[in-house]
Amino acid sequence: MDSMSSEAQATGRALGAEIRGIDLRVLGPEEVHAVRAAWHEHQVLLFRKQSLTLEDLLRFSRHFGDLDLAPIQENGRRFVDGHPEIYVVSNVVENGVAIGSLGSGEAVWHSDMTYVDDPPIASALYAVEVPPSGGDTSFCSMYGAWDRLPIDVRKRLDGLRLKHDATYNSGGYVRQGVVETDDPRTAPGVWHPLVRVHPETGRSALFLGRRRNAYIDGLTPRESDALLDMLWAVATDPAHVWQHRWNEGDLVLWDNRCTMHRRDSFDASSRRVMYRTQVKART
Ligand code: SIN
Repeated sequence: MDSMSSEAQATGRALGAEIRGIDLRVLGPEEVHAVRAAWHEHQVLLFRKQSLTLEDLLRFSRHFGDLDLAPIQENGRRFVDGHPEIYVVSNVVENGVAIGSLGSGEAVWHSDMTYVDDPPIASALYAVEVPPSGGDTSFCSMYGAWDRLPIDVRKRLDGLRLKHDATYNSGGYVRQGVVETDDPRTAPGVWHPLVRVHPETGRSALFLGRRRNAYIDGLTPRESDALLDMLWAVATDPAHVWQHRWNEGDLVLWDNRCTMHRRDSFDASSRRVMYRTQVKART
């Protein structure tokens, strides 16, 4: 972040940095360039005390690519009225209708929307209302996961592909319109390589997506589960996780190609309202 007055303060964990002294409403080209460089270096960036309108959030997100629509969750696409690119993650029910998805339970480790062929490269999550406790979001690095694997395991993964399930979301709910199944071989989803090279950093990253109904092509279900359990244990090792406790006005931008995240549960009687954009590579 040296081309601007703001500074990147690394979390001290395996990934993540806070960028201080920056107003995301008014980024010039040099600042965008510097934010992008810090994002590539730290994988997840935190910006505190932002005061963004919907248009500000969309403009900031579009610095990184084109925007995708909100995902289809347990209750369909939940987005801010008139802005189908702004997905609402919330437990709040208004007039009997949930304004968002994922409720108040735990959201398990995942990367966003990897059950499609061309998943988002980034997500920006903006805290509108946060509960007094709980609902923290944690991040792990899939570069780190790859780097920590023994060489013989890395060789074994070479050329393997993994099915990323489209049945369940991270809250454990069945996506609207999908027939529930727990057979990974027949579950809907798409295949991705188990290892991928980040197009902008050139670094290799393990690509797991989500655990439930995951299946490695060519292995028996038992072999696939054994290998996946080992890879997930390495990737989500708490020693290499950064956990963020939210305040209203925080925006966190993560690189969906080299990180996973999860969310803690929180008291269902509290309100948590988060706006998320999902960024695709520019076409
Ligand atoms: C998400 O998985 O994008 C939601 C994370 C959160 O609510 O903290």
